[in-house]
Amino acid sequence: MAWIVIIASVISVWILSLFKLLLFSRFSFSKHFNHNCRALQKRNVLLVIAHPDDESMFFTPAINFLTSRGHNVQILCLSVGDADGKGHIRKQELFQACVALKVPMQQVKIVNHPDLQDGFGKVWNHSLLANIIEEEITIHCINMVITFDNYGVSGHCNHRDVHYGVCKVLYDTLQRDIEVWELVSNNILRKYSGPVDIWLSMLWPILHSNETMQCFVNEHPRRSYLAMAQHSSQWVWFRKLFVTLSSYTYVNTLRKIK
Ligand SMILES: *[C@@H]1O[C@H](CO)[C@@H](O)[C@H](O)[C@H]1NC(C)=O
Ligand SMILES: *[C@@H]1O[C@H](CO)[C@@H](O)[C@H](O)[C@H]1NC(C)=O
Ligand SMILES: [Zn+2]
Repeated sequence: MAWIVIIASVISVWILSLFKLLLFSRFSFSKHFNHNCRALQKRNVLLVIAHPDDESMFFTPAINFLTSRGHNVQILCLSVGDADGKGHIRKQELFQACVALKVPMQQVKIVNHPDLQDGFGKVWNHSLLANIIEEEITIHCINMVITFDNYGVSGHCNHRDVHYGVCKVLYDTLQRDIEVWELVSNNILRKYSGPVDIWLSMLWPILHSNETMQCFVNEHPRRSYLAMAQHSSQWVWFRKLFVTLSSYTYVNTLRKIK
């Protein structure tokens, strides 16, 4: 009997959170963000990821927020995701996913470098990463970079190396006016709490009122699902489940790297 109550409660909280998310993002979200608008005025944003599908699985709340407010979003993907020999397919899938995310195809760059191949245990050279990222920043006059934090959401070594590559750019070019934001990795409980995580995520930026944290609530959660579905070669049952249960589908908390 007790477990029926527990399950019913969990389902209720889920529905309530989803409802809150849809209402929140439509009416009160922009108000909540007003004091941060200055920091976000018309940016050239570079999202740096490791594999095709990272953008759809982890970063859609931030992408949706930025594109819907007219910011210029560029995506730099540092591998074709060839761990299973499907690199050529996955590259096309990334372009299609970006169309679903309203990022024009010409604003997506995919690197296929022999030293930067997808896989666990494949160590990526941070200097090489920094050189590639730096070049992209210069070409597109980037003033804001978004990437993984040092855990990289799933702990994948490629995600973590990308973080260190971006940090290297930041430290090597101190004179430049670039803001770098990292996606905060949540513990496993929060990671799989779906929309329920928006309550905690909303608290963070309030507690850190000095603008070192930003919370992006996904205004179009369905778009995450549609974008991920473009990655047909990856769109298996456990990823469908992941996209549904993952808090990264509903909210992104970004922390500023100093
Ligand atoms: C890493 O890349 C840099 C720049 O491309 C290169 O100079 C350096 O030798 C590389 N380091 C290793 C360990 O391969
Ligand atoms: C911002 O707030 C956090 C926590 O309150 C603190 O750790 C951090 O040092 C603050 N940063 C600045 C720049 O004041
Ligand atoms: Zn990845």
